Amino acid sequence: MILRKVVLIPFVLLCIAQSPTMRGQTTLAATPPMGWNSWNHFAEHVTDADVRTAADLMVSTGMRDAGYIYVNVDDTWQGTRDANGELHPNSRFPDMKKLGDYIHSKGLKFGIYSSPGPKTCGGYEGSLGHEVQDAQMYASWGVDFLKYDLCSMQDPMRELTAKNNGNTDAAFKMMIDAFRKMGDALKATNRPILYSLCQYGIAEPWKWGPSVGAQMWRTTDDINDTWGRMTIIGLEQADLAPFAAPGHWNDPDMLEVGNGHMTTDEYRTHMSLWALLAAPLLAGNDLSKMSPEDKSILLNKEVIAIDQDPLGKQPTRLYQRGDFSVWTKPLADGRVAVGMFNTALDSRDVALDLTQIGFAQGATLHDVWENKDLGKRTGIYSRNIPKHGVVLLILSK
Ligand code: GLA
Repeated sequence: MILRKVVLIPFVLLCIAQSPTMRGQTTLAATPPMGWNSWNHFAEHVTDADVRTAADLMVSTGMRDAGYIYVNVDDTWQGTRDANGELHPNSRFPDMKKLGDYIHSKGLKFGIYSSPGPKTCGGYEGSLGHEVQDAQMYASWGVDFLKYDLCSMQDPMRELTAKNNGNTDAAFKMMIDAFRKMGDALKATNRPILYSLCQYGIAEPWKWGPSVGAQMWRTTDDINDTWGRMTIIGLEQADLAPFAAPGHWNDPDMLEVGNGHMTTDEYRTHMSLWALLAAPLLAGNDLSKMSPEDKSILLNKEVIAIDQDPLGKQPTRLYQRGDFSVWTKPLADGRVAVGMFNTALDSRDVALDLTQIGFAQGATLHDVWENKDLGKRTGIYSRNIPKHGVVLLILSK
């Protein structure tokens, strides 16, 4: 993917300078959005029945009451456009309005997916040339969330870049204009529809996302259910802390917790990192098969509270020493969440210097995953952390 990760500071600064409303619609995502998305488990096989069942399970498993409000249909719901340009869902989704009504009847919100290009990543119909019409249709279906995925728009961007001898300015402008077009179309519906950009971090969306009306933007390429991919993504977010705040969030992609290819310690690391990062928490598991461990991770109230902290700060990576890193996140009430991560292949004894993280007089420690108060500590606090494990603490004076 040649265009990914290319940085174009002057153009980005220009976009920001032209944007008087950087904060966007803060009320829509005062804290990082939470919900469930069909892609990570069902991928291109998802059906209306799967989504209805997911909505039922969001209630019965306690996900909804823990704060996971959005039920998002990802790619592959689309059929074809009629003579008027109106897009109809495919046969797996007989009636989107009824599906939205069903989701709403459960006290949940309805999310959908499209692309600014002619085709989605799955090769289904995108919104190019039909942005206003599609946005109006989503609003008429009661849609509350749109994930808008670059996908096939990368082809004309590549052509433009080649035509300009490798200069990406015009291609990036084309992309940002396309995202703005849908942002404006959503705003014009007068329905609060959370706008989630998915373009894998190309041209630093954290700098211009708010100016096109977005509440969240993907910062990386896709996650998958492996320790390697999850940690590459999660641990590379450290520099993006200045760009997350109430109303707009960096999105390191959806959760894989419960999809079966990581250990419980690894999923705890995943959830801890995402919570510290103030990342949107979009579960992507099969809700009908949640193990007690999956539930203990996804439904952990204290971890969710770290993610949803109203201050909306991403953490600082205090240090990285080989396979051990420490991340600290200030919370609204003055406490500090601390993640101690061991990415080594064996367990490690690790030490946290409380003075170094601002607690020279000592701190009262609470272990979040153990749900245990550890009392007042001073100086160096040492722990043994299992392979690929985490100790998540809340510190108070
Ligand atoms: C891209 C996105 C994924 C998913 C798929 C659907 O890869 O990054 O999250 O939406 O498209 O095709």
